[in-house]
Amino acid sequence: MVNNRELHKKDEFYKKAKLEGYRARSAFKLLDIQKRFNIFKRAFYILDIGSAPGSWLQVAKKYAEENIEKYKDQFYHRDHFKIMGVDLKNVTPIDDINIIKSDITTPEFQKKIDIFFLNKIDLILSDASVNKTGNKFTDQIRQLNLCYKILEIIQKNLKNKGNTVIKVFQGSDFNKFTRDMNILFRNLKSFKPKSSKKQSNEIFLIGLQKI
Ligand SMILES: C[S@@+](CC[C@H](N)C(=O)[O-])C[C@H]1O[C@@H](n2cnc3c(N)ncnc32)[C@H](O)[C@@H]1O
Repeated sequence: MVNNRELHKKDEFYKKAKLEGYRARSAFKLLDIQKRFNIFKRAFYILDIGSAPGSWLQVAKKYAEENIEKYKDQFYHRDHFKIMGVDLKNVTPIDDINIIKSDITTPEFQKKIDIFFLNKIDLILSDASVNKTGNKFTDQIRQLNLCYKILEIIQKNLKNKGNTVIKVFQGSDFNKFTRDMNILFRNLKSFKPKSSKKQSNEIFLIGLQKI
C-alpha cells in the first residue's frame, strides 16, 4: 500500500520544486497567479503572511529584484526592495528578507509592520492557513476568522492601487467574505492554480488595485 508521504513524493509539483530549488510545491501556485494576473508589477515593498517554509518568499524576492532593474522610469519605482515574511513557525533565513516569528492576529504584529516598512505596502500575499482539527465546519470558521484579520491588515497597510492574494477555503461564508473583500478593490478574481490539489477546497482571491 502507498502511504501519503510516498504519494506526495510522486507528485509532479513536489519533484519540480525540488529540482528548481523551491522550499515547497506552493511556489507554483504563486507563479501561476503571477502568470495570470501580473500581481508583482512594480512591487517593491512586499508582505508575505504565513511564510513557512518560505517558497512564496523565494518567488517574491525573485520578482522584487527583477523589478528594480525593470522599472527605472518616470513612473512609480524604487532602487531597493523590502520584503517581510511572518509565520507562527520558524522559517530558515533568506538573505535580504526580514523574517519574523509572530502571530498576525496580535496588535504587536502591526507595530512590526510600521517599524519595518515606514510606508504603505505594494503587495500583500497570504497563503496562511489554520492548523486543521479534522472538523471541517470548525476549520472553515477558524480559517474565515483568520482571513478577516488579514483583510484588516490589507485595509490598513496596502497602498492605494496595490494588489493582494489571500488563500480562502470555499465553504458556507465564502460568498460573504468575497463580497466584503470586493468593496476594497477595483477588481476581484478567484483562482484555483493547477498546482493546487483537486481534493483541497482552497481557492485564492486576487484583489487588484486597492481603492
Ligand atoms: C500553507 S503554509 C504556507 C506555505 C508558504 N506560502 C510557502 O510557500 O512556503 C501556511 C502557514 O500559515 C501559518 N499561519 C497560520 N496562522 C497564522 C497566524 N495567525 N500568524 C502567522 N502565521 C500563521 C502556518 O503556521 C503555516 O506555516
